[in-house]
This record gives sequence, C-alpha cells and structure tokens, in this order.
Amino acid sequence: MKNVIIKLIMKEVGLDAVEVADLIEVSPRMEMGDFAFPCFSLAKKLKKNPMAIAKDLAEKFRKELPGEISSVDFKGAYVNFFIDKKILAEDVLAKVKRGGFGRSDLGEGERVVIDMSSPNIAKPFGIGHLRSTIIGNSIGKICEANGFGVTKINYLGDWGTQFGKIIFGFKKWGSEMELKKNPIKHLYELYVKANAKVPNGHDPAGLEFEKEARKEFKKLEEGDKENIGLWEKFRKLSLKEFDKIYDLLGIEFDVISGESFYNDKMGEVIDKLEGKNLVKKDDGAMIVDLKEEGLGVALIQKSDGTSLYVTRDLAAALDRYKEYKFDKMIYEVGQEQRLHFKQVFKILEKMGYDWAGDCIHATHGLYLDNDGKKFATRKGKTVFMKDILGEVVERAKVNLTEREKLPVKVLDERARKIALAAIFYGDLKNFRENNMIFDIDKFLAFEGDTGPYLLYSYARASSIVRKVRSKKVVKIVDLKNSEIKLLKKIDGFEDVVQKAYENLAPNLIANYCFELAQSFNEFYHACPVLGSEKEGFRLKLVDAFRIILGKGLGLLGIETIEEM
Ligand code: ARG
Repeated sequence: MKNVIIKLIMKEVGLDAVEVADLIEVSPRMEMGDFAFPCFSLAKKLKKNPMAIAKDLAEKFRKELPGEISSVDFKGAYVNFFIDKKILAEDVLAKVKRGGFGRSDLGEGERVVIDMSSPNIAKPFGIGHLRSTIIGNSIGKICEANGFGVTKINYLGDWGTQFGKIIFGFKKWGSEMELKKNPIKHLYELYVKANAKVPNGHDPAGLEFEKEARKEFKKLEEGDKENIGLWEKFRKLSLKEFDKIYDLLGIEFDVISGESFYNDKMGEVIDKLEGKNLVKKDDGAMIVDLKEEGLGVALIQKSDGTSLYVTRDLAAALDRYKEYKFDKMIYEVGQEQRLHFKQVFKILEKMGYDWAGDCIHATHGLYLDNDGKKFATRKGKTVFMKDILGEVVERAKVNLTEREKLPVKVLDERARKIALAAIFYGDLKNFRENNMIFDIDKFLAFEGDTGPYLLYSYARASSIVRKVRSKKVVKIVDLKNSEIKLLKKIDGFEDVVQKAYENLAPNLIANYCFELAQSFNEFYHACPVLGSEKEGFRLKLVDAFRIILGKGLGLLGIETIEEM
C-alpha cells in the first residue's frame, strides 16, 4: 500500500523512492487518513509555501487516483491519503499467505560478518557478553531477513597477559580437582587471588609476582609445552561451560575463533604497519600514534615482545576480509571499548584498506542492577550466568505451576521458552546503546510490555485458529476500526524489518511486536471471531497476526509456544 503512494508522489515531486519513503508518515488518527506526506522539505526546492504545495499535490493526485486509494485530502502542510480498506485487507491476507512477507533483497549477494558474544576464557561469562550474544544474534537474523549472507563469529578472549597470571596462579595454588568440579569458578578465583598480588606502589613481593606472571605469558607466546598444555586445558573446559549457556539460549555460531588464532600472525601485521611507516618505537615498545586524529596512541607490541589486544584485532580483521570478503563487519561489543575500535578502524584505514569504512562497532550499554549499580556482583559475590539463567527458568516454572498443572516435560520446555522470551525481550525492547535494568520480575510478568505477554498473545491466537476449520467464506465488508488498525499494523512489518537493519536496531522489531499484539488484543476484545458473521475473514486475520508475530519474535531469537 505504501508503495502505491510512494510511486504517486515520486512522479510529482522529483524525489527518489527512498527519499519519499523516509518522508511518509503513518497517520496517528483515522480521520487524518492512513498515510501522510509532509511538504515542508519541498518548500525550498519548489519555491512555494508548504501549505500551497500540499493543496496542489492533493488536487493533482485526485485526478489520477489509483484503485488502492479511496481519497486524498490536505491539511496544513500535509497531504493525507485514505486507502481502500477492502483492498488493504485482501492485499495483507494475500501477502502473508504467500510467505516471504517481511523479507527483502536489500542485501542480495552481500555478506555481513558479526563478531559477537566473545567471552573470555577462564573468566565468568559476563552480563555484557549476554547482551552481545542476544543482540548479535538478533542483528544476524535481521540481516538475513534483508537478504544478506551472515557469518557469526564468536571471538573468544583466549590470549593475553592475564593468562600469565592465571598460569602462575594455577601452578602455585591450583587444584586439579577443583578445576574439574567448577573450572571457571576455580580459575577465576586464582585470577582474582593473583591480581591481588599485583603491586600497590612498590611492594617488592608484588613486583616479583608480576615479573613471574609476565614470564609465564611470554613462555606461552613462545610455545612452551607445559604452559600451552595448561592453556589448552583451561580453554577447553571454559568453552564447555560456555556451551552450556549457548545451548540453553539456543544460539549457535558459524565460527568459534579467538585471539589466540592470531598469535602467530603478529609479525605480519607489524611488518605491514612498518611498511606503511605507521609504527614508532617508544621505550622498546611499538606504538601507532593517533594523537592527530584525537585517538591517543595504540600500543602494538610491548617492550618484552608480547602482543596486544589491538594487534590481535588488526590481524583478525585482515584475516576475515581475506576469508569472507565481507561487505560489512559488525562488532557487537560494549560501549566501554569505543576507543579500542576507533583505534582499530583508524589504523586499518591508515594501512590503506578501503573496507575499514565497512567496519562498525555496534555498541551496547550496561546492564544495571535494581539499585542502578553495574550488574556484576551480588552481595560482593560474582554472579555466574548459568545461575542467573537457571533462576529465571525456575521462576518461570513457579509462575506456570501456579496457573495449571503440567506434565514435567511440557513444564520444562515451556518454562525454558518463557524464561528466554523474558530475557531476550527484556533486553531487546531497549535501544541497545541505552543502559538497562536487569529486573527478572518485570521481565517475567505476563502483563505489560514483556516477552511472556507476547508469547501469550501468540498462543491465544493459535488456540483460536486451532479450534476451528471454518467453512465460512471470507467476506470483507464493513471493516471495524480495530480490524483496520490490525491490518495496517501487519502491513507495516516489512518496513520495520528494513528499518531495523538500517539502524542495527532490534528494538524496532521488539516494539513493533508489542504494538502488533496490542492491536490484536484490542481487535479481539471488540470483535467476536468464532460464530460471528465475519468468522471466515476474522479467522484469516487472526492467523495472519499470529504468523507475523511469530516472524517478528523469531527475528529477536524468541521461540513461540502454541499453548500457554
Ligand atoms: N573478549 C572481549 C571482552 O570480553 C570482547 C571481544 C570483542 N571482539 C573483538 N573483536 N575485540 O571484552
């Protein structure tokens, strides 16, 4: 429907389809029509006042009105379009039935690489990693819906000086038994203990410790057998723990990579940087000076020859471009790494790679606790992701059990889906850059702007559709306001999927799903379905709603439930 209007306007005002589409608004109230075209921005070009432009356009359009539009009007500087509701209804039902509704070919033949999740081995899976996993996953699905090929890479933090501390700590205080029992907890405790030894001022024992820890990392970088063996063990055990989280979340990756993969590519990167005259020696270390760009200096190699996070990211980016020839590479990583990615992208640009401009840091904000503090520890204790997720599932179970008695298997599966919907939606409904409060009770509520509410709306529609195989003909007459509103909302899906891609903003999909469910619930409240005269049409409408809500939730990574 919108496309018909776009075509009409394009012809008259000398703008292209995208420009017109960006200007068109969905009218907030029915008496203002269905779509509105504001004429303010044309005033300069046409050297006329916007109100006069709106009037002229409306009069012109009236003379050649396409069948889909029943009338055109103007008010102030707006041209208002009233679409033919019967055609709208037929069009929406047909589109949904055809399948593929909400998919575009915007990215046909192009590839997006997404660097996401990326937890650090031997450390707890952080809440920031959870955000990256959920948001990255959704962005991936949104890209796919827009026709892009997608490669999701989990880039583990599995290299760096901290492993010197962990290895040193393990050799000194570690226990094989503890390691087996709860690897991440044990390794993390060793790390914390080791870190506490790092000097405060000039404490000689601390300095000695730091020297030892550095030595262990250097040995690791040089391929020392014992250290490599320990590191491999830590990595394997950590990954096994992370996999439990990914299994629960139902999220997979195309590639499991990590900083360690680039350990032996450091020389190459440094050679390339030197070839472009970009590195400077600084007290035995190597740096790239980005002060002129306002980005400080990036440390490329420490004076003891060990590599750094920036260097590994440079090597990884070069390698990924070689491997995937991506059209876009999205790093879904917390905002606290803003400077890091600015430096990486700037260095790539200075090295002469024109694809540096296709690298994007899609930041996310912090998770805060109820009291507004950073969500990292509880009562001074580190929280483990597995425990948090487990807690949400348990609570979902309690909620469910209060409502009805279910067989254990059904209960487990349903509670898992509800818990995930609660967490995914609770996160994704916010623009990713905003900080948000991780409030399990709010996330889990069955009413309001929550994941469970959406699942419930979906299940409700499913049960209606399931109950009847209506033989009544689909008669589209005398459409009620709530029917029209729901039809229009469904019709808007395609637009939202595209906008969500353009802004890398899953929240647009999430908010759309909520509004869609609200429109459905208003409709269902106002219009009897079963046994009504319009049963045939209304059932089709309910089904269309259910299909589109299911697709929308799917783009957020949320699985639906048929019965709830
Ligand atoms: N492992 C890092 C961290 O936890 C995130 C890595 C993000 N990706 C990257 N290519 N640097 O902070």
